[in-house]
Amino acid sequence: MAISQRAREIQTLVQSFHPLIAIETVEEERVQALLQEATQDMGMPLFEWSAPQGLARSPGGHTPWTNDYAPPGTLQTLDEKTKDPLELLRYIQAMSLRAVFWLKDLVQHLDEPVIIRQFREVVQVFSHHRSALILSGNNLELPPEIAADLVYFDLKLPDRDELERITRTTLGVLKMKHRIQIQLQEGEQETLVQTLTGMTLRQAQQVLGFAAFEDGCLDASDIQNILNRKAQVIRSESLLQYFPASSLTVELGGFRGLKQWLDQAKVGFSEAAKSLNLPAPKGILIVGIQGCGKSLAAKAIARFWQMPLLKLEAGRIYDKYVGESEKNFRQALRLAESMAPAILWIDELEKGFSPNKGDGDGGLSQRLFGSFLTWLQEKSQEVFVVATANDISQIPPELLRKGRFDEIFFVDLPEASERASILNIHLKLHRQSAQTLDLEALVQATVGFSGAEIEHAVISGLYRSLYLRKPLDTAVLLEQIKATIPLSVSRREDLALLRSLAKDRFVGVR
Ligand SMILES: Nc1ncnc2c1ncn2[C@@H]1O[C@H](COP(=O)(O)OP(=O)(O)OP(=O)(O)O)[C@@H](O)[C@H]1O
Ligand SMILES: [Mg+2]
Repeated sequence: MAISQRAREIQTLVQSFHPLIAIETVEEERVQALLQEATQDMGMPLFEWSAPQGLARSPGGHTPWTNDYAPPGTLQTLDEKTKDPLELLRYIQAMSLRAVFWLKDLVQHLDEPVIIRQFREVVQVFSHHRSALILSGNNLELPPEIAADLVYFDLKLPDRDELERITRTTLGVLKMKHRIQIQLQEGEQETLVQTLTGMTLRQAQQVLGFAAFEDGCLDASDIQNILNRKAQVIRSESLLQYFPASSLTVELGGFRGLKQWLDQAKVGFSEAAKSLNLPAPKGILIVGIQGCGKSLAAKAIARFWQMPLLKLEAGRIYDKYVGESEKNFRQALRLAESMAPAILWIDELEKGFSPNKGDGDGGLSQRLFGSFLTWLQEKSQEVFVVATANDISQIPPELLRKGRFDEIFFVDLPEASERASILNIHLKLHRQSAQTLDLEALVQATVGFSGAEIEHAVISGLYRSLYLRKPLDTAVLLEQIKATIPLSVSRREDLALLRSLAKDRFVGVR
C-alpha cells in the first residue's frame, strides 16, 4: 500500500537530518498513526513516551489508526525509571539506536537547566545518525536554546482521504456492533465525508455517532444535522463562524459590477482553468460606507458560488486568551483550508491588522499581520478571502498594494435603481408587495440613505401600520423616512473623506 503524503513528509524530515520535530496538536491518535506509517515504511523502530507511562516500544504495522491505536497504559514500559524526564533522556542517549522517539507533552518538563542540557545532547547525537525526537502537545513553546534546532510539522486537519477512512470504519462499527441502520445511497457517503471537513477525526466520529444513536439510523436526512453540529463545533472551538452554503438565503440589491466580476472570476475555480495552470482567485477587499451591504455581499458571494462561508471577526483574534492569538489565527486559517473550496470572510479587517494597533503588544499584531500576508501570498488551497472594512485609513498600505487582493471594491451609498431593488427586497422579506406603493416617491425620498437605513424604514413602517391597524402604505413609509437622519447627513464630513480616499483608487461595486 502506498504511504500517505503526510507520512512521506515526516520521512523526508527524518531522513534529511532533522533530529527534532514538533507537532502542535491534541490529536494523538493521528500522530501515532502517522509515525507508525512513516517508521514502518523506513524500517525504523518507533518508541513513545509519556510521563505516566515511561518509554515504550510503539506497536508496529501499518493499518488504519482506528483499529490499531494503542491507548495510553496498554504498552509495555521498557524501564520504570524512564518516567522521569531526565532519566528518559539519558536512557535514550545510551540506547544508541537509530529510531524515532515520540515524546508526548515532554515540552512541559523542559524547564530545568540540567534537563535542557541533556535534551540538547540527545539532539546533537541524533543529528549525526538520523534519529529523531518528535514532540507533540497543545502548546509547544520551547526554550530558545532548543527552539533553534526545531522544525515544526503542520499536521493540518484531516484531509478527505482520512475522513473517508474514518467514516467507513465508524459506519462499519455502528452497523456491526450497535445494529444501527445505515441507509446511504450512491454518492451520499461522499456528501457525508464532505460534510465532515473542518473537523478533527475525533469530532467527526462523535458527530457521526451522535447522528446515529439519536434515532438508531443514519441516512441522508442526518446530513443537515451534522452540518448544524459542525457549525456549533467550529464556533465553540475556533475563531470562526461557519455558514453552510445551503443556509444562506440573503439577497443583495445593486452591486452589479461586483456581481459581474464574481461571475467571471468563478471560472477560475473550474477544471478548465486548472488545466491551464491558472491560479484560483485569491480574494477581494470591500471597503465602504457603513450599512451599505459589505457584510451582506460576503454572504451573497458564498451563496452565489455555493461555497461554505467562514467568518472571522478580525477584532476577535485578540480576545480569548492572551498569548494564544497567533495559535488561534493559524488554526483558523488551517480550518478554512481544510474546508476548501471555501470563502473566508474577514470582517472589519482594520480591527485585526491596523498599523496603529501594534503599540505595546510586544509585536504581536505585526507578527500576525506578517503571517497573514504570507498566507495570502502563498496559499495553495482554494480559499477565497473576502475582507471587509469601513476605515481605509486604518488598513496597512501593504494590503492595498496591487496584487495582494485580486480587486479592491468601494461601496458608496446606493443609487436610485439600487434603492428600488433594496426596497423591493425588504418589502418582500416582510411579505409586502411593492405594487401597492409609490416606489418612485420612496426612491426619491431615500436619497442619501444606506441599505441598512432603507431596511430600517421598512421595518419601522410596518410596526407603525400594525399599530394603526391598517395595511402598509406609501404615506406611512414616507413618514418613517422623513423621521430618519441618515449617516450621509449626520456624518457628512467622514463620508466625504472616505470617498475622496477611495474614489479614484478602487473599483466601484456597480
Ligand atoms: N444592497 C443591499 N441589498 C439588500 N439589503 C441591504 C443592502 N445593503 C444593506 N442592506 C441591509 O442593511 C443591512 C446592513 O448591511 P450590512 O451589514 O451588509 O452593511 P455593512 O456595509 O457590512 O455595514 P457595517 O460597516 O456597519 O458592517 C443588511 O443586513 C441588509 O438588511
Ligand atoms: Mg459589516
